[in-house]
Amino acid sequence: MNKEAKTDGWWQAFYDETPFELWLEREQKELDVTLDFLWQKLELEPDKLLFDQCCGTGSLSLPLAARGVRTIGVDLCQKFIALAQKAAADQALDCRFYHDDAFVFLPPTKCDAAINWWTSFGYDADDSRNLLMLERIKEALKPGAYFALDYPNVAHVFQNFKAKEEHQQNSPEGIINVIRETELDLERGLRKQRWTYHLPTGRTLLHQTSLRMYLPSTLKEMLKHYGFTDIKLFGDTESSDLSLDSDRCICLARRARS
Ligand SMILES: C[S@@+](CC[C@H](N)C(=O)[O-])C[C@H]1O[C@@H](n2cnc3c(N)ncnc32)[C@H](O)[C@@H]1O
Repeated sequence: MNKEAKTDGWWQAFYDETPFELWLEREQKELDVTLDFLWQKLELEPDKLLFDQCCGTGSLSLPLAARGVRTIGVDLCQKFIALAQKAAADQALDCRFYHDDAFVFLPPTKCDAAINWWTSFGYDADDSRNLLMLERIKEALKPGAYFALDYPNVAHVFQNFKAKEEHQQNSPEGIINVIRETELDLERGLRKQRWTYHLPTGRTLLHQTSLRMYLPSTLKEMLKHYGFTDIKLFGDTESSDLSLDSDRCICLARRARS
């Protein structure tokens, strides 16, 4: 772990202490569409090197490596990295996973493409901290390389606001009940959530999270600030145009050639 790593954000305890890895397993159909989207948009080819910033359990890096790319992933959650490393070893895939802070981590070699996927950005209330992730992406990429950022479409979040949601998740130990209560701090541009996990053991876990609500236009400005060009916004992994109905805002951008 890098010396400058800052490990006191809500995200450290949230991912370390909850069974969130269960939510990182994607349905095969959704996974295939996502992999096809990334393969095409990032112009991936066998032997190209992909940087997966905030890679979680490697649920995208691993199947992309199975298609032939080499991958480097970083995540702050030690148990996710351990799962990713084990899966890569079991499947003999060309993946390297690092336990580190994406605000500071740089891959040891320049990469041909990069992703920051499924709301792994915007966690700090301080914009200058969040921008560090984009700065690391810029530094990690070769000139002209593509980057894809998958973030919630906040226009959709506002329009479909739900103060309380409940759902259930199967786990090897039984059913986990999750209650998610949301409030919007409009003045600070934050979506604040309180998560209650009722585990099959009878234990209850409580966590608070918060996410900066960046409009698509702001994400575009941030990418431009780091010299990214050819920025395109999509509403999903089927390449739909971004609209009020899109729940995702996927930014595809290219590192400047010089
Ligand atoms: C919602 S998950 C998405 C994981 C993965 N990108 C995927 O699509 O399956 C967010 C991930 O970001 C990681 N993360 C958040 N902040 C981080 C940081 N500063 N450095 C490294 N990882 C971070 C978390 O540990 C978690 O694995």
